[in-house]
Amino acid sequence: MAQVELKGVSKRYGSVEVIRDLDLVVEDGSFTVLVGPSGCGKSTLLRMVAGLETVSDGTLEIAGQKANDLDPVARGVAMVFQNYALYPHMTVARNIGFALKIAGNDKAEVEARVRQAADVLQITHLLERKPANLSGGQRQRVAIGRAIVRNPQVFLFDEPLSNLDAELRVSMRVELARLHQQIKATMLYVTHDQTEAMTLADKIVVMRDGKIEQTGTPEQLYGDPNNSFVAGFIGSPRMNFLPAQAEGGKLRLVSGVELPCPPALAGPVSVGIRPEHMVPQDGRTHSLPVTIDMVEYLGGTRYLYGRLADEAPVAVEARERVDIRPGETIDVTFNDRDVMLFDASGTRIRSATHNS
Ligand SMILES: Nc1ncnc2c1ncn2[C@@H]1O[C@H](COP(=O)(O)OP(=O)(O)OP(=O)(O)O)[C@@H](O)[C@H]1O
Ligand SMILES: [Mg+2]
Repeated sequence: MAQVELKGVSKRYGSVEVIRDLDLVVEDGSFTVLVGPSGCGKSTLLRMVAGLETVSDGTLEIAGQKANDLDPVARGVAMVFQNYALYPHMTVARNIGFALKIAGNDKAEVEARVRQAADVLQITHLLERKPANLSGGQRQRVAIGRAIVRNPQVFLFDEPLSNLDAELRVSMRVELARLHQQIKATMLYVTHDQTEAMTLADKIVVMRDGKIEQTGTPEQLYGDPNNSFVAGFIGSPRMNFLPAQAEGGKLRLVSGVELPCPPALAGPVSVGIRPEHMVPQDGRTHSLPVTIDMVEYLGGTRYLYGRLADEAPVAVEARERVDIRPGETIDVTFNDRDVMLFDASGTRIRSATHNS
């Protein structure tokens, strides 16, 4: 088991800097999830930890030891990719044990470790099959098995489930959580899937443009984001951002709606409200007319997508069985305590009245 630490790490390809002076501690035994828009540097970060890319600047430590120039094999890390690329002519058992065999382990040792990994992943009954005769989820388990047999201190996962269909993703997600509890290794995991990030992570790291925007527990990032980027990135449908003007202790929104705000605040601000806090019901403090464009029915909930009078788009969550149709204008209500304020640069404005 091991902590991974990046101190002032940069990565450059020629003159292009894709990771910029980044500090990160991945705690020993944690399940840390990296999220961020495409191209922000998630895979690059993982590949540097794995030793597949050099570190241009700064220090990479694994288990308290500087690892910048350490041979990938000596780092005690194993990486699982989205494209798991199994050897098609080998059985599952040989696929899983291949690296051990190459490393010169004797046959009995390889067999024992393959069996142990297969037990953990519940694929013992598949050991003699070829990859072509497996489902996507079973193949992905074989790929994880290849990592497990090496008994790594750190697992690196780069979108391991994104090739699977929705149902398999859910069951593999549960298995990964179980695996982590069982082997308690450090896991650094990249995903584009909100639910995966929220349910698997002890800690989520939100990246943008080669830098970290914020790290925290899923609850911290959701409930207390530092800026509008994180607030908009975590949560689905994303947070609504309503334009407003601050003046003399009041925030003026469209349709004559006013909210209290710190007296010192002036100029344009953005009012953030999550869809679940904007409900098509009376009884909350503020009310805004919203013209509905689309209704998304999801069984227990439905999302209403519409526009305010100034055309700003909003998403509203309706839990009650309301009969609302596209084209209708409805009143949507919300409370002060569910409002987050952001300044023109996107930085969160925290204050006594808006501090949810
Ligand atoms: N070998 C390379 N040479 C030049 N630029 C590269 C190289 N590899 C990656 N990049 C660039 O580095 C940036 C980060 O890439 P990276 O693959 O880490 O992104 P990512 O966050 O994993 O994105 P995605 O979510 O799409 O997988 C991208 O702009 C990419 O084009
Ligand atoms: Mg990537």
